[in-house]
Amino acid sequence: MSLSRRFASALAALALAASGLVLSSPAALALENGLLRVPPMGFNNWNSTQCKADFTEGMIKGIADLFVSKGLKDVGYTYVNIDDCWALPSRNSAGDLVPDPARFPHGIKSLADYVHGKGLKFGIYTSAGTKTCNKAGFPGGLGHEQQDANLFASWGVDYLKYDNCNNQGVDAQQRYKAMRDALAKSGRPIAYSICEWGQNQPWTWAAPVGNLWRTTGDISDKWSSMIGKAQANRGLAQYAGPGHWNDPDMLEVGNGGMTTAEYRTHFGLWAMMAAPLLIGSDLRKVSEDDFAILKNTDVIALDQDPLGKQATVLSANAGLVVYSKVLANGDRAVALSNETASTATISTTASATGIGAAPSYTLKDLWSKGTRTTTGTISASVPSHATVLYRVSSSGGTRYEAESATLSAGGTVDSNHAGYSGTGFANGANAVGSSVEWQVTGPATALTFGYANGTAAARPVDVSVDGTVVAAGVPFPPTGAWTTWSTVTRAVSLAAGAHTIRVTATTADGPANLDYLDLSR
Ligand code: GCU
Repeated sequence: MSLSRRFASALAALALAASGLVLSSPAALALENGLLRVPPMGFNNWNSTQCKADFTEGMIKGIADLFVSKGLKDVGYTYVNIDDCWALPSRNSAGDLVPDPARFPHGIKSLADYVHGKGLKFGIYTSAGTKTCNKAGFPGGLGHEQQDANLFASWGVDYLKYDNCNNQGVDAQQRYKAMRDALAKSGRPIAYSICEWGQNQPWTWAAPVGNLWRTTGDISDKWSSMIGKAQANRGLAQYAGPGHWNDPDMLEVGNGGMTTAEYRTHFGLWAMMAAPLLIGSDLRKVSEDDFAILKNTDVIALDQDPLGKQATVLSANAGLVVYSKVLANGDRAVALSNETASTATISTTASATGIGAAPSYTLKDLWSKGTRTTTGTISASVPSHATVLYRVSSSGGTRYEAESATLSAGGTVDSNHAGYSGTGFANGANAVGSSVEWQVTGPATALTFGYANGTAAARPVDVSVDGTVVAAGVPFPPTGAWTTWSTVTRAVSLAAGAHTIRVTATTADGPANLDYLDLSR
């Protein structure tokens, strides 16, 4: 979808939401509040402070400052979110939630204004229950959905994490839909994070309810916890997409409980799985090594890829796991992940990722930044608990054999002149209008036709893309013999996705014998 169409559909969705019609949207549709077309990136204090005394206005302002000064904003981190324990244990006489004046002496609106002043967004937390999770018993949103949503909107809240504690056994869908509808009526676009811990398989019902849903219980800052979340989340790829994401919980990178290799695995797998990238460490104390992980723009690009496809698992054998993620430009991201206690070689192939046949592929290692070329094997020696991440692109283009093309009447696939690739070549009828047509997948910047012309005269064709002639009367000059094969190349601007390429003869000789069509960029 184009940006302008996407914007228009987001506007339409907002108009629907404002009119209250969201309630009647069919369950199969995603929540169309126009938000989180890519997974959220930002911060949440829970994994570092929980409810300890250092969770304060000063800390959160400091995080917003560091988002700017450390370049995190520049690489896409946007949301500065606060978790449980921001409120007082009792609502005020009007029934409103009240910020704890010890932690937030200037209130929440002032903090949100500060965050907005940095060009960032602000998020808050409450629970779909009578109280939040902390034993102090802070008030929850159950039965107060509209009042709380309106209050959050009035403060300038951009994101709500809605937890599951003290839910009184009320049906989860009922509780989470009530807040969805309240947010839609609040008058402010608020990204909606369902934190139901995966208890009622929210991936099966929450796409029309929230922008993301937790698939697991809480993460903790150790390898076994982190990799357990990845294992639970990685089979759910089919449920994720723009505006509605699986959430295996927030990041622990920088909190100190894992090795650099393990934190890279954590960050890399979250990006592969199109998971939220919500930093959970106190950035005032994070090492430069951990900042480098959080700011790896090649890895972030996998997470934020506009196609919004979660990686699928290609193979998982005794803790050696291969993930593959389809990217918007036709590339694939491949993760070779070693969950075992010793170094191991992990392998797959370009073909297994579905990238399409090509003479060769470029592998870019997204941690070392080195690139190399392969004819198909994707393999690495991977240390214990490490994950090698490659971005795979067809370096030699994608070949479409003439055997798989559609020929107009009278055309045949022949094999009587040696030297062709594949199992044959297209011998189009000798007539004006005789055509050969391929179904291809973009993007591409060039079309190369393999051909032979054993006559003394060129065999011109019109080249069309999706029915429009993009190159008229392209000559296919004599090659000297029907067994001598050559190429004709034309520049083209082929967007990502499916296209029809057709060549149509413009003379009574028909087209040359055509061996293949290569797409390259
Ligand atoms: C010959 C040749 C064919 C070719 C044809 C043509 O018959 O064997 O392969 O297609 O000429 O002129 O098109």
